[in-house]
Amino acid sequence: MDLFRKKNVKDVIAQSTPLRRTMRTVDLTLLGIGAIIGTGIFVLTGKGALTAGPALSLSFLLAAICCGFAGLCYAEFASMVPVSGSAYSYSYIAFGELVAFVIGWDLILEYALQAATVSAGWSGYFVKLLEGIGIHLPVELTAAYGTTPGVTTYFNLPGFLVVLLITWVLSIGINQTKKTNDIMVIVKLAIILLFIVCAVWYVKPNNWQPFSPYGWYSFKSGSTTPMGIIPAASIVFFSFIGFDAVSSSAEETVNPNKTLPRGILWSLGISTALYIVMTLIMTGVVPFKEFANFINAPVAGVIEKTGMNWLALIVDFGAILGMTTVILVQLYGQSRISYAMSRDGLFPKFFGEVHPKHRTPWKGTWFFGIVTAIAGGFININVLFELVNIGTLSAFIIVSAGIIWMRRTQPEAHRGFRAPGVPVTPLISIVFCFILIAGLNWETWVRFAVWFAIGLVVYFLYSRKHSHLEPGNEEIQAGLSDTDPKPVL
Ligand code: ALA
Repeated sequence: MDLFRKKNVKDVIAQSTPLRRTMRTVDLTLLGIGAIIGTGIFVLTGKGALTAGPALSLSFLLAAICCGFAGLCYAEFASMVPVSGSAYSYSYIAFGELVAFVIGWDLILEYALQAATVSAGWSGYFVKLLEGIGIHLPVELTAAYGTTPGVTTYFNLPGFLVVLLITWVLSIGINQTKKTNDIMVIVKLAIILLFIVCAVWYVKPNNWQPFSPYGWYSFKSGSTTPMGIIPAASIVFFSFIGFDAVSSSAEETVNPNKTLPRGILWSLGISTALYIVMTLIMTGVVPFKEFANFINAPVAGVIEKTGMNWLALIVDFGAILGMTTVILVQLYGQSRISYAMSRDGLFPKFFGEVHPKHRTPWKGTWFFGIVTAIAGGFININVLFELVNIGTLSAFIIVSAGIIWMRRTQPEAHRGFRAPGVPVTPLISIVFCFILIAGLNWETWVRFAVWFAIGLVVYFLYSRKHSHLEPGNEEIQAGLSDTDPKPVL
């Protein structure tokens, strides 16, 4: 039994379909920023500030370094095999089918579960915005069960509905998706800049003292929850997830060898700069312990502290847009990965079926949209975002290791972009990923191991037998490509 049967670069590129290529560097950068800036900065900075103190900006820097090095590896892979599927497709080439399946399975955590988590943050700001204009929803329907201490909640109805709405946008086509995303990202960036320009005048440098009250990594006496710069980096790592979604659009971009690496690196660079400035301002305006009072909406808390009430509504609106684009891009990435896995036979054909008119993988899009909406309705954001982080960090490790492996085994494969400093660059990425995994709670490691084990069961019971690389299944693949409508995403 060959657990590591591989695809080669030439076959994968040849298999990529004649797609509607409309995305350019600017669209990809906006797509990346759309996926990156959201719940992390608007919600998790509260928890981050309580964990690291004002040194939170260093935590962001640490997470950014990790993502920057991993981003260079993603960029090289994306330029070498510009096809749908991101880390899944890359591992198929580098390490073979079993690793590819495990990573594809793992990416469900990164994409679908993340969209569900973000929908919970979305709902929090949406409810606040409505309250700002005098509309009050029944509190029981504003959040998942058990998420707000002292308040009885059952279901996150706004989050549920927004995910379904976004799923519909995604199912009707890439052009609509691109335009919707571009507009929302530009407005979100404008509102973040407005926040920075208005709030910077309220910074009191005294609030930055002591800068790092918990050091790099420590425990409060009697607690098993890690504190300090590294654990906070493990939390706010969530803020950077998304740049890799740019690579899932490989089959829909113009000149992907060049535009994909640029889109990945630009979106990461712009977001990092904004995050560091924002967190310095936030911890400069509010003494870090006070973030406990507005843990679910820390940016709103900073505004409250400045007394600029007029800004509150605008920033709430920016946060909502920010999180909307994150959900949009993550669900988009999820549908393309399940499409790629279905095309390889590892997921049922259902996920690869392309709508005859809209030419999107609409069934898979709706499947994951509905699952995500339901999960977002019930999910407790504080528990699950760590699972998203560990899933993504694992994918980063595999992609980084894949670059080292590909340089050794397939040095001749054409690369439109070469990550500088290989093997040091991917090695640094791997080390940083392990550091960030170490900063997570042990419960998260256990949950991740369980998810991983379920994936292995699915692989051996279903995917292995249906894989197009399984001897005897080649005809299925040939038959499919002859009869299916051209799957233009
Ligand atoms: N990076 C995305 C966010 O912060 C997941 O919402």
